[in-house]
Amino acid sequence: MPDTPSPSPAASAPANALWGGRFAAGPAAIMQEINASIGFDRRMWRQDIAGSRAHATMLATQGVITEADRDAILTGLDQVASEIESGGFTFSTEREDIHMNVEARLIELIGDAGRRLHTGRSRNDQVALDVRLWVRDAIDALDVQIADCMRALVAQAAAHAATPMPGFTHLQIAQPTTFGHHMLAYVEMLARDRDRFADCRTRLNECPLGAAALAGTSFPIDRHATATALGFERPMANSLDAVSARDYAIEFMAAAANCAANLSRLAEEIVIWMSAPWRFVTLSDAFTTGSSIMPQKRNPDAAELVRAKTGRINGNLIALLTVMKGLALTYGKDMQEDKEPIFDTADSLALALAATAGMVRDLRPNAEAMRRWAGEGFATATDLADWLVRVLGLPFRNAHHVTGRLVAAAEAKGTDLAGLSLAEMQVAEPRITEDVFSVLTVEASLASRVSYGGTAPANVAAQAKAWHERLG
Ligand code: ARG
Repeated sequence: MPDTPSPSPAASAPANALWGGRFAAGPAAIMQEINASIGFDRRMWRQDIAGSRAHATMLATQGVITEADRDAILTGLDQVASEIESGGFTFSTEREDIHMNVEARLIELIGDAGRRLHTGRSRNDQVALDVRLWVRDAIDALDVQIADCMRALVAQAAAHAATPMPGFTHLQIAQPTTFGHHMLAYVEMLARDRDRFADCRTRLNECPLGAAALAGTSFPIDRHATATALGFERPMANSLDAVSARDYAIEFMAAAANCAANLSRLAEEIVIWMSAPWRFVTLSDAFTTGSSIMPQKRNPDAAELVRAKTGRINGNLIALLTVMKGLALTYGKDMQEDKEPIFDTADSLALALAATAGMVRDLRPNAEAMRRWAGEGFATATDLADWLVRVLGLPFRNAHHVTGRLVAAAEAKGTDLAGLSLAEMQVAEPRITEDVFSVLTVEASLASRVSYGGTAPANVAAQAKAWHERLG
């Protein structure tokens, strides 16, 4: 820095009112631009005001400020909140962020009492608090949405507990399953997503407020009181950690990435199922778009976008992991870069969940097409092998071999397994009886899968009912 600052357009800008004591001049325009976060952190205004209310109330209880000052602060904060709520608040870049915008306006409104609010507090613990509260609120809202999505899946599962569809591995027809069973697989996945968010919420629910800049404060504050007032389990035990930690936000974004990945798998399946050669499901006009050139088209854009949201949600997680990596304790301005990824993750996942719930409710499974394909590709070959084990006592490996020969014979004959005659079957294994034909149908295969968690329609119906009751 030269001793005499060279004149720049911003050099004549007034010094910041909140720290002007040490500064003769204002920041360069580009400094202001890179430094300001008000463009995005204004979204935390409710959390910021809630934190200030708790702090002011506690300061008065502890005798650090007078009750009159507290009352003026609380009334002033109400005024600020209603100005922001009604759109009448002027957010200013000079005031850098939401914390200073709120505080400066409060001081404009109530004067000296407003200047006392920041006693025993710093923007470092303030921002740590606001982001934590914001993420906690986001988790609560996402939890409601995930549950809604699960309800939509459960309703389809209950309606289609016995609707056959081909089950796949390697996207090759493997064994018959039901559409309901398939829907319930996603219910289980989303239930784990909910658990992950809930687990993240439990760990993040400690209050950083009162850590002040980094080392705590000499004022007789009551951190337990503010923690309780703001719905936290306890204050964070280490002031340095309190202002530095963003691992909870990383956890939040990791849980979101997992959830987005699960949604994207369903989205991908919807895209496949919608494709004309499959026609397993249809979506109505409500969740599809047409083509500007090909009049026959019905495109699953919502599913494609749910699939694609995963990209930015994954990117956001990596962005914050990268910001935090190697960051020396305690606060660094780097951490201001946490907000946009966090907000974008919450927004993107909320949108993906809403679109998924909507699509699932809108889905009309095409039972006929799914039934036809459920029986294709020798899908009941395992049932035949199991019959050889159960009825003839063959070791499973031998049964697998015999069945393999029968599949080859059917393939050569251009038929499915049930299209072979008993005599043709007996070429591979002479002890096979007529009874084998009872397990070769899709329905028999489905009904036999009664093992816990299996695809038997009775199982699926029972699980759908249990989920319906759990979700309320
Ligand atoms: N806008 C800042 C952020 O988002 C608030 C904290 C600023 N603290 C500071 N010491 N400059 O991180």
